[in-house]
Amino acid sequence: MKIFSGIQPTGKKHLGNYIGAIRQYVEGQEQGDPAIYCIVDLHAITVPWDPTVLRTNVHDTTAILIAAGLDPDRCILFRQSDVRQHTELCWLLSAVTAHGDLNRMHQFKDKSERQRELVSAGLFLYPVLQAADVLAYKADTVPVGEDQRQHVELMREIARRFNDRFGETLVEPELRIPEVGARIMDLQHPRNKMATTGGSAHGTVYVLDEPAAINKKLKSAVTDSGSEVRRDGEGKEGIANLIEILSVVRDTDMDSIERQFEGAGYGDFKGAVAEAIVEYLSPTRERYEELRPDEHALEAALAAGAEKARAIASETLAEVRGAMGIGQG
Ligand code: TYM
Repeated sequence: MKIFSGIQPTGKKHLGNYIGAIRQYVEGQEQGDPAIYCIVDLHAITVPWDPTVLRTNVHDTTAILIAAGLDPDRCILFRQSDVRQHTELCWLLSAVTAHGDLNRMHQFKDKSERQRELVSAGLFLYPVLQAADVLAYKADTVPVGEDQRQHVELMREIARRFNDRFGETLVEPELRIPEVGARIMDLQHPRNKMATTGGSAHGTVYVLDEPAAINKKLKSAVTDSGSEVRRDGEGKEGIANLIEILSVVRDTDMDSIERQFEGAGYGDFKGAVAEAIVEYLSPTRERYEELRPDEHALEAALAAGAEKARAIASETLAEVRGAMGIGQG
């Protein structure tokens, strides 16, 4: 089974990214043949960015992923812009992508509404590049959080349309969303997902947060006026989110968490969640501190990954070009 997923380069990866995606990437290394993970710097330029910061962010994200358990010898970890086949395939796939489908993408609507200056054509084409990322490797499975569902459905549609028009060439990938933790919510606004942009600073736990910061954010997490550590009922979004987080980081089911905290106050419960998150994230933060200074090693890992990725993607591109009548043939 070929696994592919992508992640935006930022030094501020949060608990939602970790639980919804990074944790699955690490597990995928066992099942993937191969497991391919891409740091999507070309997607990062669809909204305003600083060129120097972007380079730094790629290194930050690489170090976070390796610190979390990705082993560049057991998976293919690379930077999107190092493999030019992604951009070429993006253009080729745009020929079989409906404008109307792109117009319906929630992420495009949200991001373009938030954009104060330029709403770039790149932001509109974002899902086509994302489709190219996956289809270039004929991946079978795409592990992501809930917010990427629509993008994965679209890439399936693009693959189908391509195959209908040009013959069986591309693979329709399956979406893989975790049963628990697919949508971690902002601690301050538990009806909104935890997010790098548009989220609240106090409601977002970062992978690299120090224990004191995590404790503080958990202490001020929004709950409700009740006192029961239960996940269903009116206005229980805040508590439900904390139960879900604890369930993942402790690897226990949500019912037993509810039983364990029956009769306990919210203060004690939040304290236990904070402690569990600190324990869960600390090894990654500590390894990150060791790995991040050696940029040569990070670049070497990315370069080796890009070479392996290119070998796969260039084969698909040759087939796609051939099927579409592009180039000499
Ligand atoms: P990005 O970088 O925004 O997010 C990386 C992964 O984290 C998941 N995620 C969450 N999971 C649970 N709760 C949350 N609050 C939460 N927030 C984010 C996302 O679902 C994602 O899996 N468009 C993608 C990057 C991408 C990609 C790809 C993904 C580019 N090409 C090809 C899969 C396949 C994105 O912006 O991810």
